[in-house]
Amino acid sequence: MTETLIEALERARGWLKAAGRVLVITGAGVSAESGIPTFRGGGAYWSGFSPNELSSVRGFDANPCLVWSWYEERRARVRSAEPNAAHRALAAYTTRADARILTQNVDGLHLRAARGLGTPSAANDPIEFHGSLFKVRCRRCHRPGPNPETIDASSRDTLPRCLRPHCRGLMRPDIVWFGEAIPEENRLLSIKLAREADVCLVIGTSLEVYPVADLPDQTRDTDGKVVEVNVFPVVRGTTNTAANLVGKAGDVVPELLAGLP
Ligand code: OAD
Repeated sequence: MTETLIEALERARGWLKAAGRVLVITGAGVSAESGIPTFRGGGAYWSGFSPNELSSVRGFDANPCLVWSWYEERRARVRSAEPNAAHRALAAYTTRADARILTQNVDGLHLRAARGLGTPSAANDPIEFHGSLFKVRCRRCHRPGPNPETIDASSRDTLPRCLRPHCRGLMRPDIVWFGEAIPEENRLLSIKLAREADVCLVIGTSLEVYPVADLPDQTRDTDGKVVEVNVFPVVRGTTNTAANLVGKAGDVVPELLAGLP
């Protein structure tokens, strides 16, 4: 017999109540209800575009205007979007519990939800594991630079450039592209957090991209539990180790976290 959502919620809430540390992993699905497309599936980013053309160093070197115009469109869409009920519930939860958010999203909505609660910049800020749409760094010397308000991608001459006089390389989005490694400090931190967590709460991700895809199993390897919130769940396991909460993040996450210490 399959478990109902209410039964799975009860089990997941029991684990969260008993938990010392919690790692929250999020993906594009947590921002879907803010109007940001996911990457995979119908109407998603990768269904109409080529990841290699738009999100790789090779693609950028071949056509930086095309890459920047795609990112500028995403930046504009995110600027006019708002954090949803899931982002807000998570922001409140991570201020009161020993819980840390690690997001694959580059939209900054977790951070905006935290600031919306008046939470100052803190050691507990969400980890933006794949970078941010609102950070740039030099393609040539790799140094970060100020985030331009808007980017004119109509020609190579109007694209943002490194401010260092001896460099003047093109600036690129500070995002981990295909074929690039996660910065070592963040990679090691993610493994530490996953292994120390009593519960790994996985929200709105297809878990198709490594190394994030491995993290829930790191929690289970150290006797922790995995709770998943997804409209199409992907985490497998017995009722002793996993709870699949099937539904939209904006509905399920506030319900899951309400009243938890
Ligand atoms: P995907 O597009 O692969 O997966 C989105 C997941 O969200 C799917 O499992 C959906 O079922 C689920 N979903 C959709 N709407 C939802 C909702 N309202 N509530 C809950 N779940 C929902 O996105 P990611 O797993 O985040 O990397 O993709 C991982 C990485 O692949 C991205 O960070 C991106 C991409 O290539 C980079 O660009 C570096």
